[in-house]
Amino acid sequence: MSDTLGIALVGCGTVGNGVANVLLSRPERVAQRAGRPLALRRVVVRDPAKPRDPLVARDLISTDIRAAIHDPNVHVVVELIGGTTVAKGVVLDSLAAGKHVVTANKALLADAGAEVFEAARKAERTVCFEAAVAGGVPVIRALGESLAANQVTAIQAILNGTSNFILTAMAERGMSYAAALAEAQKLGFAEADPTLDVDGSDAAHKLAVLAQIAFGVTAKPHEIARQGIDTIDAIDIGFANELGYTIKLLAEAWTGGHGHAGNGTKQSRGTAPADHGAPTVALHVAPVLLRHTDLLAQVRGAYNAVLVYGDIVGETLYQGPGAGRMPTASSVVADLIDLGVGRAQRTFAAAKLWSREGRGFTVEPPERVRSRFYLRLQVADRPGVLADITRILADEEISISSLVQHEAAEEGGGPVPLVIVTHYAATGRFRKALTRINALSTTAAPAVFFSMGD
Ligand code: HSE
Repeated sequence: MSDTLGIALVGCGTVGNGVANVLLSRPERVAQRAGRPLALRRVVVRDPAKPRDPLVARDLISTDIRAAIHDPNVHVVVELIGGTTVAKGVVLDSLAAGKHVVTANKALLADAGAEVFEAARKAERTVCFEAAVAGGVPVIRALGESLAANQVTAIQAILNGTSNFILTAMAERGMSYAAALAEAQKLGFAEADPTLDVDGSDAAHKLAVLAQIAFGVTAKPHEIARQGIDTIDAIDIGFANELGYTIKLLAEAWTGGHGHAGNGTKQSRGTAPADHGAPTVALHVAPVLLRHTDLLAQVRGAYNAVLVYGDIVGETLYQGPGAGRMPTASSVVADLIDLGVGRAQRTFAAAKLWSREGRGFTVEPPERVRSRFYLRLQVADRPGVLADITRILADEEISISSLVQHEAAEEGGGPVPLVIVTHYAATGRFRKALTRINALSTTAAPAVFFSMGD
């Protein structure tokens, strides 16, 4: 049919096979939703000998990227190779050749979004990326379209399934960090280099994409403060549990004023409005202690969840599978359908993402974010040690909310673990106190600390 939308898949691993399977096994459904047929015309792979989805005809497969990009019967290139080098060339060349692009590549968008979107605007073509954040969870559309009447004031999100899987396995099954990571890799949702999952980089890439849509800020991944789960000790999971909390790796965005109790009502997490009055947003990725009853605390295994606060709607939550073959394919095919309908082209042109037309927000370091803190110290068990620590906290006007020290087996002088939970304090002042506490001669190891999510 002449109005058929021709598609080339570049990269056919886990997600690519899922996309091919959906297009080839449900062509009537897809055509009905798109208002026209969608035809898979080419599948470009590195190794043609590798087994693929049985529905992918052998003669669709080749190693020739250029031929796919320049095929006049291809209208959309789906980039699923990942990484930021070859993938970037594929995306830019495809746009220059007049093709629309669908990508699941959060690292590329976070790294080179401005360049890619500028190229798309120049070529009058569209880039769709629903699959780049939270896999099968339609959070890009939720933020960019369904919540378009709102100014988002904060985002709290579980954006890395591998980390969430590991934390769940450690907390619920008592697994070691290494064994839980190995299981996540076996199940196929970890990145090729799992360091990106566990050090917070993958979540930071995804947060950078969400921040662009919600606040119009272009935050480079290295500008997002991040701490991963790779240094989490089972002892902290145990103490957190004892206090009624679960540890989750959260990607967070707090705008100036969100949660600020300027009117004398109950304080919650957030940051005070900046003195200069211009809107600011603090972005960071870090493990956070959430009460067991918190909705995000109940997101288990490889699932993702995104909590969005909008000034009109209030609090909304999106949850679902954040990775994997079919969930990610669900988002890629939705983008293809939107291109088929012609909707994506209109919303893309209107949204002006990664353009110079920001929305006035600037990124600020997380120093002013107010939070309660969990602090674990290894300290000598002798007179005056606690007094020294509480004095330093008091100097920074940080008040203690609770304190846990288990009785040591013998009076040997330690070191023993000491856990302190604080009331609300600015991150900057808390860090200042930490530096002094770490310098005490009675502190046996660097302090471990996390924000508390309530
Ligand atoms: N490796 C990612 C995760 C999935 O574990 O969430 C793809 O973004």
